[in-house]
Amino acid sequence: MNYDAALDSAIARLHDEGRYRTFIDIERAKGRFPQAVWNRPDGEQQEITVWCGNDYLGMGQHPVVLAAMHEALDATGAGSGGTRNISGTTVYHKRLEAELADLHGKEAALVFSSAYIANDATLSTLPKLFPGLIIYSDALNHASMIEGIKRNGGAKRIFRHNDPEHLRELIEADDPAAPKLIAFESIYSMDGDFGPIEALCDLADEYGALTYLDEVHAVGMYGPRGGGVSERDGLAGRIDIINGTLGKAYGVFGGYIAASAKMCDAVRSYAPGFIFTTSLPPTVAAGAAASIAFLKTEEGQKLRDAQQLHARILKMRLKSLGMPIIDHGSHIVPVHVGHPVHCKALSDMLLRDFGIYVQPINFPTVPRGTERLRFTPSPVHDPKQIDWLVRAMDNLWSQCALNRAELSA
Ligand SMILES: Cc1ncc(COP(=O)(O)O)c(C=O)c1O
Repeated sequence: MNYDAALDSAIARLHDEGRYRTFIDIERAKGRFPQAVWNRPDGEQQEITVWCGNDYLGMGQHPVVLAAMHEALDATGAGSGGTRNISGTTVYHKRLEAELADLHGKEAALVFSSAYIANDATLSTLPKLFPGLIIYSDALNHASMIEGIKRNGGAKRIFRHNDPEHLRELIEADDPAAPKLIAFESIYSMDGDFGPIEALCDLADEYGALTYLDEVHAVGMYGPRGGGVSERDGLAGRIDIINGTLGKAYGVFGGYIAASAKMCDAVRSYAPGFIFTTSLPPTVAAGAAASIAFLKTEEGQKLRDAQQLHARILKMRLKSLGMPIIDHGSHIVPVHVGHPVHCKALSDMLLRDFGIYVQPINFPTVPRGTERLRFTPSPVHDPKQIDWLVRAMDNLWSQCALNRAELSA
């Protein structure tokens, strides 16, 4: 085989479809988020505002987080030095897991390298624990859940997005005695819509199924202590396994599940993605624990309130200009473009001409024809930056003669 030619044609396909991914090389400057410097391909540097980060609350530069990380670094050094089983479990990991268990009101938590790995490792392991398990998965679940479910060798059913009635039909077609698990998200991050948690828990109760909830985009952001939408809605107790990240609202890195002590013990003992990999650096565990603890407090609530306010202002202003906003009342602000090439061109112009960095979201992250710009306002975006973004969007929408008709949510 001509391997080079095969690679060339694979890459050319992406260019042809307008979905070749270009990484933007940025230097975030601590204390100045969301400002950053873009190292342009021509060698010049340009000051930009990041509008597409998932450090939703700016915790990546919070003094409490940085102090905890500095302290751990000085106390214990750089890496953990091993897998969790072989010398890689430290007081920092234990503290982080205790903080997470408390956050979700669960008996235990288990930390993984990322939420991707937590989803993949847990969902691919569950059929080993519950032979014959059927997993019912929302059609728009994240790639990490899909991968875990695909690889596990067990039975799977896909229910239409946020459609409990379709789920019921699928469950009723299966053996009532088979063990079952319903896997879904609390916030689907590309549209910013909420999962019907209560209705899915009701079905789980009715049919004796376990529930698995990905709260990756909600932890730190919703609920009086940042425990996610399940905390906000008083439903955490009805979820068997909650999955979350430490890399978005908590501003650090890593992922986890929170569940019963027995569930965590079993996953810990059977999941290769947990067992055979070096544990998080203690610095990271310390920073994440500090961030979680901070966001449980009233100070944390102030950040959540400020974030929600900025999201509402941005949506209102873009809507008033007739922009096709997808608005489900969450903290995410997607603007529908509907064409990969236009989406990329808009993103390029925003960056180059206005110093606004928002990555185009194209297939396969979202279905073809639903390409979008996805803005993530935070408490550290100030009114001037919001105003500049709105003016830039207004300007480019006119310049590109784009449709201003509104999408309904
Ligand atoms: C819904 C969902 N689950 C899981 C993940 C993975 O999270 P992490 O970045 O911690 O791997 C993501 C990442 O964007 C996500 O959107």
